[in-house]
Amino acid sequence: MRQDNLLTRCSRLALLACGALLIQAQLVLAAAIIEGERMHPVQGTRGMVVTSHFLATQSAQEVLKRGGNAIDAAVTAAFSLAVTQPRSGNIGGGGFMLISSEKKDEVVAIDYREKAPAKAYTEMFLDQDGHADNQLSRFSHQSAGVPGTVAGLALALEKYGTITLQEAMAPAIKLAEEGFIVTPRFSEGLKAKQKRLQQWDSSRKLFYKADGSFYEPGDLFVQQDLAATLKRISAQGPREFYTGRTAELLVAEMERHGGMITMEDMKNYQPAIRTPIHGSYRGYDIYSMSPPSSGGTHVVQILNILEGYPIADYGHNSARTIHLMAEAMKRAYADRSLYLGDEDFVQIPLKGLTSKAYAASLRETLNQEQATPSKTILPGTPVGYESNETTHFSITDQYGNAVSTTYTINFSYGSGIAVEGAGFLLNNEMDDFSAKPGSPNGYGLIGGKANKIEPNKRMLSSMSPTIVKDKGKNFLVTGSPGGSRIITTTLQVIMNVIDHGLNIQSAVAAPRVHHQWLPDEIRIEEGISPDTIAKLQQMGHAVQQKSSMGAIQSIMVKDGVMYGGADPRRSTGQAMGL
Ligand code: GLY
Repeated sequence: MRQDNLLTRCSRLALLACGALLIQAQLVLAAAIIEGERMHPVQGTRGMVVTSHFLATQSAQEVLKRGGNAIDAAVTAAFSLAVTQPRSGNIGGGGFMLISSEKKDEVVAIDYREKAPAKAYTEMFLDQDGHADNQLSRFSHQSAGVPGTVAGLALALEKYGTITLQEAMAPAIKLAEEGFIVTPRFSEGLKAKQKRLQQWDSSRKLFYKADGSFYEPGDLFVQQDLAATLKRISAQGPREFYTGRTAELLVAEMERHGGMITMEDMKNYQPAIRTPIHGSYRGYDIYSMSPPSSGGTHVVQILNILEGYPIADYGHNSARTIHLMAEAMKRAYADRSLYLGDEDFVQIPLKGLTSKAYAASLRETLNQEQATPSKTILPGTPVGYESNETTHFSITDQYGNAVSTTYTINFSYGSGIAVEGAGFLLNNEMDDFSAKPGSPNGYGLIGGKANKIEPNKRMLSSMSPTIVKDKGKNFLVTGSPGGSRIITTTLQVIMNVIDHGLNIQSAVAAPRVHHQWLPDEIRIEEGISPDTIAKLQQMGHAVQQKSSMGAIQSIMVKDGVMYGGADPRRSTGQAMGL
């Protein structure tokens, strides 16, 4: 027994030493990236993985090294992030995955967005006075949609992967069972959100020590309940999550606290394979996520508007460029508020919204010298209906495949409620529905009837996993977390590369701007010059500098070389080439 203790202590010390070395290696890598005249991306010729956590990057990289493809590596990364980054990596949420195969010349989208439970109804988040109750929609058991992650990842692997689910999940199970060394970011996140997480016994037990103290950098973090859940799924297959012990634990959690998800909801959940939105920008093909995300539609719509201006001549982040971007963004977000929702429930004029002709008509409403106040901008009339925390990663392989995945539990740590005995957090994605037309959600986004709550409907998203192709070849693989800012963050990396000729690391790191129609302000990150801000104000814009936006883990492929750019806005992010 004493020998066991000694061994445990020795292996803990070894792990601590490894952890310190890893953090050191991260710092050296970060220093190397910003050396020289320009930021240097990581390079590879047989594969590239870029995620927001180095342990997930390393797990996925091992899969590529053994000959696995990008889809195998993506599923491995997603399960690893569910363990190492519980603020956004998840099995209790949902997301989207874009897969591009050069050989088949096709891009497909896997939609594993959460769904409203069958008992959900339009007014469920309104109080007695008819006001939207944000506490209920964001921080209660009713905030949770039926999770889609496990089904979506399993579908991707079955249809497009080459390894078994057991192989893909093995690294995550090891990380949960044996633990990993706490990083400063991990520790800071749990400290910052202690109020939300400590309200619930199940979450307190998971994320804080038995005496209530914090996990500090260098500590070992073990998740036995999560390891047991992952082992059940790995051994029994993805249906275990939806019909087995894991589903029972989730539904029991709902029943104890007035949640709505039933065993029937879990059993009925199915992911979907969708056709991505396809547009073009200055000769490049843009593929991005279709509804129930608004992301792809509006990335393409904004690019279509901006294509009419010589943005490269106007310069990167000049007042003129930012003005045009903000004006295009406003018009797109106004349309989002009216038209976008789950296409299984509502008709969306997608062809119209993404057409070059509609973009040209919106350009005519745009004054190149002066801001148009948002209150005078209404959603447009495109022709023809035809029948804060999330995480993104990008992967390419030696076989011509590219995978762009964004998945989420909505807010950082979702609702903050963990499923007792199952070791994972519930999403609060129901807040992405429009609780009341005209009332903003957690990201200040206004929605309308198209995004009202209905049973079994998917809530509107902004997630925009995107793949840009150049003459049939994968060129850019990108996407970001950031709620309403996802669309504009993704847009800017595309523009930074295509219009401004930045390499992928510089494109990812450059300061970003954002306008979402309402509130009527350009939100900027630090790094936009004071005279640029003054010019924008003269043009009639309100400009607000706030915290950084997004974390866009991206890859660019050029002449057979894969370049990876991890976003420096995440201290744990890492790109690794093969
Ligand atoms: N929960 C954020 C989004 O899906 O857009």
